[in-house]
Amino acid sequence: MVGPGMERERERESERESELEIVLRRVGLPPRVSARIASMGLTVEDILATPSRELASKLRIDRKVADRLIRTAAEVASTPKPASHVPRRRILSLGVRSVDGLLGGGLSEGSFVELYGEPGSGKTQFALHLCVRAMLPQERGGLGGGSVYIDTEGGFSAARLREMAEGQGVPPDLALSSVRVVRARSVPSLMASLDAADGLVREGEAVLVVIDSLLAPFRLDYRGMGELAERQHALAEALAIVRRTTARGGIVLATNQVVGGREKRPAGGYVLGHAPDVVLSIRRSLGLRRILGVVDSSFLPEGEVLLAITRRGLEDVDEKL
Ligand code: GTP
Ligand code: MG
Repeated sequence: MVGPGMERERERESERESELEIVLRRVGLPPRVSARIASMGLTVEDILATPSRELASKLRIDRKVADRLIRTAAEVASTPKPASHVPRRRILSLGVRSVDGLLGGGLSEGSFVELYGEPGSGKTQFALHLCVRAMLPQERGGLGGGSVYIDTEGGFSAARLREMAEGQGVPPDLALSSVRVVRARSVPSLMASLDAADGLVREGEAVLVVIDSLLAPFRLDYRGMGELAERQHALAEALAIVRRTTARGGIVLATNQVVGGREKRPAGGYVLGHAPDVVLSIRRSLGLRRILGVVDSSFLPEGEVLLAITRRGLEDVDEKL
């Protein structure tokens, strides 16, 4: 007999279960399949982000079972949970007063940020600076974590990373070992790199993924209007991986070139248009000075601030600069 006390006990028990455990229990998978899921480190988000056919072959299960698994994951994921279960998002400070002010303290975990600007405006410098800041412990505004730098244009410089690390008080050798770099020129290699980066975020090896720049491989692999539809389709696939990474709490920074004549706008068309949580622009001002702007965000007011790119990285502007 199951009394009301026991029911409550069971409910309490389930509060301690992870979302994935609840899904597996409800679907009632054979233990070897559950063990396979656990050993692959799959999360509820992964199950939701994987097409049913692919999930079935990955887990060596029937399509019908895969469908049931996805449906149950969707049910569990959409069940309202106590606020105490909502993961707390930490903020990555850039350590530059003007920029942190513009961004409401910094960049929030789980956000997809686009940064666009002309050649030489400072996109790569911004990205390297962010990698260094991510390594700092939380009490110094960082996230105490590594980064993945997906370099599609060959702009990554280990020497510059080392110099910026010194400037921010991070041991340069630590900086070189906690930023993992991968060169991706083509779209397939970008996809593979995004997948690998997502895996590192899942394993807690990285908190930040930089794609510098996102559009370059697409521009090389797809040319002209004739291939535009295919290009947008592939770009949407890449953005789906980015979403998976941000759903786990990773920050993804994608740099972007500008197109257009006098009216500059970011490349990529409508597929990229609404994907980022925050769109930032950067442009040159006098000397080392740059102007960083919030162009589009659902939670930040638009605005612009001055900063400087110096040997140490990004800095507030003082009279000397
Ligand atoms: P593209 O990749 O060509 O689109 O440009 P980008 O926007 O990535 O520009 P990047 O971040 O490479 O910025 C280049 C600019 O940063 C240079 O013109 C310099 O003004 C500045 N910069 C780069 N390295 C240093 C450095 O070591 N010290 C200082 N003070 N400034 C630097
Ligand atoms: Mg660059």
